[in-house]
Amino acid sequence: MRVLLLGSSGQLGSDISRLWQGANLTLTTANRMAADVTDGEAVQALVEATRPDVVINTTAFHNLPICEQDPETCFRVNVVGGWNVARAAAQHGAVVVQFSTDYVFDGTKGSPYIEDDARQSVNVYGASKIATEDVVRQVNPEHLVVRVSGLYGLAGSAGKGGNFVETMLRLAREGNPINVVADQVTAPTNTAEIAEALLPLVLGGARGMIHLAAGEGCSWHTFASAIFEIAGLSPDLNAVTTEQLGGPVKRPTYSVLGTSRAPSLRPWRAGLERYMREKYG
Ligand SMILES: NC(=O)c1ccc[n+]([C@@H]2O[C@H](COP(=O)([O-])OP(=O)(O)OC[C@H]3O[C@@H](n4cnc5c(N)ncnc54)[C@H](OP(=O)(O)O)[C@@H]3O)[C@@H](O)[C@H]2O)c1
Repeated sequence: MRVLLLGSSGQLGSDISRLWQGANLTLTTANRMAADVTDGEAVQALVEATRPDVVINTTAFHNLPICEQDPETCFRVNVVGGWNVARAAAQHGAVVVQFSTDYVFDGTKGSPYIEDDARQSVNVYGASKIATEDVVRQVNPEHLVVRVSGLYGLAGSAGKGGNFVETMLRLAREGNPINVVADQVTAPTNTAEIAEALLPLVLGGARGMIHLAAGEGCSWHTFASAIFEIAGLSPDLNAVTTEQLGGPVKRPTYSVLGTSRAPSLRPWRAGLERYMREKYG
C-alpha cells in the first residue's frame, strides 16, 4: 500500500511519519513546500507523481482567534484544501483520510458525542470543519473522516505556537499565576496515540466517520494540574470560568468524543504520561 501524508511537519503528521516507519506500506511525506493544499493543481500534481492508494490530510488552519478574524483563509485552507485533496485522491482512485474535530459539536449534549450525533458549531473553525467533512464525503466516496480532540504532540503545532502542555510548562517557568478554565471539558489526546490507532484502521480499509480521542474527558484545569504533577512543579494554578477568562472565541463546554466504531484510546492521563516521558525522559 502506498500512502501520501500531507501536513507532515505538523504534530499529528510528524507522529504518523515517525510511528509508521517499519509498517507494511510505503509512506511519502509532504509539507506545504511540496504542495499548498489551497492550490488544486499542485495537489493534483503531487498525487499524480506519487500514485498513492491512500492520501492522509492532516493540514489545517486552526488558530481559533485568527479563524474568527479571518474566516476566508480558514475556509480556504480547511474546506477548499480538503476538497482539493479529496478530489485529487478520487481522480486517482485513492482513499482519502481527512481529520476533523470535536468542535463540530456545540457542547450541549453533556455526554460523549458519537459519530452520528448532530453537528452544530459555535465558532468559525468548527463551521469550517463541518463544511470540510461534507465536501470530502461528497467528492470522494472512498473516505475515512477521523474526528480528534485537544491534540498535543512532540512536534508542537506551528499554527498554534506549540501545544497546551508546553504552554503550561513555560508559564510555570515564568512564575506568574496561571488561570485555566475548569468549565470546558474535552479529551486532550497525544498525537502518538492517534497515529498508532490509525495504522490498523488504514491497513484494514476502514471507511466512513470515526472518533479517535483519549478515553475519558477532563477539564483543561484538571489537565493542567496533571501536567504540573507529572513534571514535579507547583505553580500558582487557578481554576477559572470561561466567562472570567473572556476572549473572542466561543468554545463548546463539553466536547468529549466517544465512539461506536473504533477501538477506544487509552485514558488521557496515560497519553500525557507517555508524552512527558518521551519528551523529557
Ligand atoms: N490541534 C488540535 O488541538 C486539534 C483538535 C482537533 C482537531 N484537530 C485537527 O487535527 C488535524 C491535525 O492537527 P495538528 O494539531 O497536527 O496540526 P498542526 O500541528 O498545526 O499541523 C498542521 C499542518 O498543516 C500544514 N498546513 C497549514 N496550511 C497549509 C496549506 N495551506 N498547505 C499545506 N499545508 C498546510 C502546516 O504546515 P506549516 O507548518 O508549513 O504551516 C502543518 O504541517 C487538523 O485537521 C486539525 O484541524 C486538531
